[in-house]
Amino acid sequence: MRAVDLIEKKVQNQELSTEEITFLIHGFIAGTIPDYQMSALQMAILFNGMTDRETYDLTMEMMRSGEIIDLSSVRGIKVDKHSTGGVGDTTTLVIAPLVAACGGTIAKMSGRGLGHTGGTLDKLESIPGTRVEMPLHKFAETVNKIGVAVIGQSDRLVPADKKMYALRDVTATVRSIPLIVSSIMSKKLAAGTDAIVLDVKVGSGAFMRNLEEARKLSRRMVTIGRRNGKKVVAVITDMNQPLGMAVGNALEVREAVEMLSGRIPEGDPLYEVCMLLGSYMLMLSELASEPESARQKLKEALESGKGLEKLQQMISAQGGDPSFLSMDRIDELCEVKEIRPIYSEAEGYIASIDTEKIGSAAQMLGAGRAKKDDRIDPAVGLVMKKRLGEYVRRDEPLCMMYINNPEKAEAAVIEFLEAFTFSNEKPPVEPVVYDIIGE
Ligand code: URA
Ligand code: CA
Repeated sequence: MRAVDLIEKKVQNQELSTEEITFLIHGFIAGTIPDYQMSALQMAILFNGMTDRETYDLTMEMMRSGEIIDLSSVRGIKVDKHSTGGVGDTTTLVIAPLVAACGGTIAKMSGRGLGHTGGTLDKLESIPGTRVEMPLHKFAETVNKIGVAVIGQSDRLVPADKKMYALRDVTATVRSIPLIVSSIMSKKLAAGTDAIVLDVKVGSGAFMRNLEEARKLSRRMVTIGRRNGKKVVAVITDMNQPLGMAVGNALEVREAVEMLSGRIPEGDPLYEVCMLLGSYMLMLSELASEPESARQKLKEALESGKGLEKLQQMISAQGGDPSFLSMDRIDELCEVKEIRPIYSEAEGYIASIDTEKIGSAAQMLGAGRAKKDDRIDPAVGLVMKKRLGEYVRRDEPLCMMYINNPEKAEAAVIEFLEAFTFSNEKPPVEPVVYDIIGE
């Protein structure tokens, strides 16, 4: 078999056999298939797609490229939640402790920020002392003791994805459905949990730009998870604006603490997405039988302060200082040289927000990495002051920017302002949740 013939086959839009996919992944990991051939193959997959069978085979082969985590020493139904990547999406920091406070078992392996999207590990590390690396036995022990731990994926988990993603990131091949499905599900299957709630984002800040694509992505992930004996539900949620108001690492931790302190009202998009994802996590954990009773449980854990307490316990177990995680001290994590209001250049209703640009603006301030080895500045980012459909006057700020490096701020301000379009008429309000796949 030769890689070039298999690339040609995909260019001709033909189906690759199981053996051919195995050959490609093995060869790539072994180094006999070079980066340029894998890049070309991924580009052909982006254009011509893959059948369900090919996507399944690719996922399984990628999963087998590394370590399969054994979490059998963790008691109970282990449930995970995974987002396809968004902006201002601090849901994990809210629902992991909230679901644990309701009796759920969360042994979660998270990722770092990718491109314009944020990553849970970077947010956790903005809390002084917090470690996201932990030996597996300690991870299992922590989850058995307090019900929750969130750590980084080890380098041994799906090395094929690490190498393939690094190429996708620089060859404009991230947004391919079979490549996203296999990237996410190979890691989820290798990570050893029993149940997974997928948060599939759709909109201007997500890899999926329309609902039909998001449904297709969701159905494929649910099918692959179930074929491997996992309980899986996918929720399709809106990413046509940042989910919460905060975009940036410590700023998103602060918003999670606000939510867990009861400062964010019902009906708010962040509140509603947290409740929905949390509800399905409780149902898959067999701790609730339908969405209403699950939501009630989560509300009780929120209002009693048990959710916030659980987040503090989790951070403490991971070496962090939990005293920052209260409304009294949380502002200390967000201290920067300058907090600058960014004023609207136009007047009118906000008609659209290019959410990817909002994420990029935060990244430019230092909240994300442009290159893999860049250091993140935990305190910088932005806090939105307006949402889609709101009326803005010229003298009203669209956001507050948290700046440590004024030189970086100029480009970030331009990027941020370019994200908005305005209209004289009030645009219709879009839903926060579009669909649930696999109920
Ligand atoms: N998140 C991943 O882990 N992989 C993708 O391909 C996209 C989002
Ligand atoms: Ca995320």
